Amino acid sequence: MDKLVIKGGRQLSGTVAVSGSKNTALALMAASLLPASGKTVISRVPDLRDVHTLSNLLRIIGARVEFEKNTLTISASNISHTEAPYELVKQMRASIYVLGPLLGRFGKARVSLPGGCAWGPRPVDLHLKAMQALGASIDIEDGYVVAKAKRKRLTGAKIDFPISSVGATGNALMAAVLAKGTTKIKNAALEPEITALADMLMKMGAKISGIGTTELEIEGVEELYAVRETNICDRIEAGTLLCAAAITKGDITLVDVNPNDFKAVLKKFQQAGCEIKYTETAVSLKSPKALRPTNVEAKPFPKFPTDMQAQWTALMTQANGTSKITDHIYADRFKHVPELNRLGANIEVKGNSAIVKGVQKLSGTKVMSTDLRASASLILGGLVASGTTEVLRIYHLDRGYEKIEQKLRALGANIKREQYDEFAQPKLEKEEA
Ligand code: EPZ
Repeated sequence: MDKLVIKGGRQLSGTVAVSGSKNTALALMAASLLPASGKTVISRVPDLRDVHTLSNLLRIIGARVEFEKNTLTISASNISHTEAPYELVKQMRASIYVLGPLLGRFGKARVSLPGGCAWGPRPVDLHLKAMQALGASIDIEDGYVVAKAKRKRLTGAKIDFPISSVGATGNALMAAVLAKGTTKIKNAALEPEITALADMLMKMGAKISGIGTTELEIEGVEELYAVRETNICDRIEAGTLLCAAAITKGDITLVDVNPNDFKAVLKKFQQAGCEIKYTETAVSLKSPKALRPTNVEAKPFPKFPTDMQAQWTALMTQANGTSKITDHIYADRFKHVPELNRLGANIEVKGNSAIVKGVQKLSGTKVMSTDLRASASLILGGLVASGTTEVLRIYHLDRGYEKIEQKLRALGANIKREQYDEFAQPKLEKEEA
């Protein structure tokens, strides 16, 4: 198993390029199931565990998938199988994204219900209700969603989401584009991932209006065509790298980014006292001598993203005062707090908020990753902690950050990946005689 070994105390500086967006890549990959012929080519795909997990799922369904130099080539002409097995879905909840395209194109799908994740249940009721609105019957059999279009083909409908859901919006879009008639989606998610998905579907021949707003209207078409598409930047990796600069009082520039994808995060860095400058494709951050405590409320886009909440919590351990970080999307996404406290942070979880008392001098020790963004927050703690921090079980991290230790090393961090035996007996220090 891999761990990251970090010697803290280095100020980060320099320039680094941000990878393509994990969450957008997964949605675009699912959409590649829709064309009945041709090859979909998606560039700027990050080399991540989640991308390979979904690639394997698409292969099981019958698609041909090749990944080379951050480019995916997907041919869905020979799909024979409309089932997503538990063995793969349990590894990654986003596998549910195949439900919409399979149902939209073939009129049937059997997809395993995703399990929970590190921070609790991740329901899919909104996905299923959207499919039912489009004319599918939904049964749950042996932990699988068994979906069938009652009239062989889905029919356009009104879908009104009670809460903003990225995944459910994506699935509804991918189901509606081949449905017979018009579909109106209300309270659609505004995340850049959804805009990018809708843009790609339009290129494929779909008819969608209202892109970038919460009201989408889709005119169903008979077929969609394979296209070439470039993935957007990973706004969460960008925010995480800026946190790494700010927590080490550094000064860095990110390139290959779109600042419009994370304006709420940039505003919070400014409120914390960082100097932020940006162009259309680059963002730079210069740290202040002392960070100001800055409260955050994680909400749907364009507000501050929940996927940046753990990283911001780590950063605020170095702010001059108390900060409150509230997650309105996942009330229990705080598994990183006990591990940050082992580094010497003083964070208390109250309901769906973390109360962070700064400035806390952190000191290195062994800490355990529990989920993707929690592991990122532990790395941030290690970058500023005195001594050595070992972040264990970083298979969580490898799901969503491409070459993160290389990027941090290029910015001056003392960080390296090492193998370790998770089950080795600890060597007990000899008691002093
Ligand atoms: C996407 O998950 C992202 N994953 C998550 O990123 C991100 O945290 C989340 O959106 C919120 O922004 C991918 O895009 C692959 P939601 P998703 O449906 O689509 C509730 C990461 O770290 N809900 O927008 O699953 C849900 O419980 C990952 O990269 C229902 O109640 O999230 C949550 O409270 C983690 N019923 C809220 O909606 C449903 O059917 C928003 O979830 C679906 C969701």
